[in-house]
Amino acid sequence: MILEIPVESYNFSAAGEAASRVKKTLQRLGIDSQLIRRVAIATYEAEMNIVIHSDGGKIILQVDEEEIKVQAIDQGKGIADLELAMKEGYSTAPDEVREMGFGAGMGLPNMKKCADRLEIKSVVNEGTTVVMGFKNQS
Ligand SMILES: Nc1ncnc2c1ncn2[C@@H]1O[C@H](COP(=O)(O)OP(=O)(O)OP(=O)(O)O)[C@@H](O)[C@H]1O
Ligand SMILES: [Mg+2]
Repeated sequence: MILEIPVESYNFSAAGEAASRVKKTLQRLGIDSQLIRRVAIATYEAEMNIVIHSDGGKIILQVDEEEIKVQAIDQGKGIADLELAMKEGYSTAPDEVREMGFGAGMGLPNMKKCADRLEIKSVVNEGTTVVMGFKNQS
């Protein structure tokens, strides 16, 4: 199955809905709850990065026998230095976003911990594609 969910830039009242829909879909499919937890956390972080750091994009969930794949695709400023962006504590989040509790610089490290594979492609001033794969145990 495949599910595509749009994600709006800077819409903080809708933020988290994509991750929540991914979670519900996996629950309906009867996926192991520990696995769902990892996918939901990583998807939430990817979704928030679209909300905070891009001009908007989408989350795509694909489930097959071997793997659960979550792609976060956005248009926007992109990531100039991926290695730096992956460092715990590195964040370019503006003050108004930090005041809402984001911007710890833990999203990408968290995604790496949760996913079995993480692939990031980014082009400055075009956008970013994050691909996360989780081994499907069911
Ligand atoms: N989709 C994206 N587009 C552009 N820049 C991004 C994107 N995702 C991450 N970044 C850059 O990488 C940095 C680190 O991302 P990360 O998710 O680890 O931390 P954060 O979003 O700043 O804070 P937190 O996730 O802890 O709330 C961001 O501050 C931003 O500069
Ligand atoms: Mg983040």
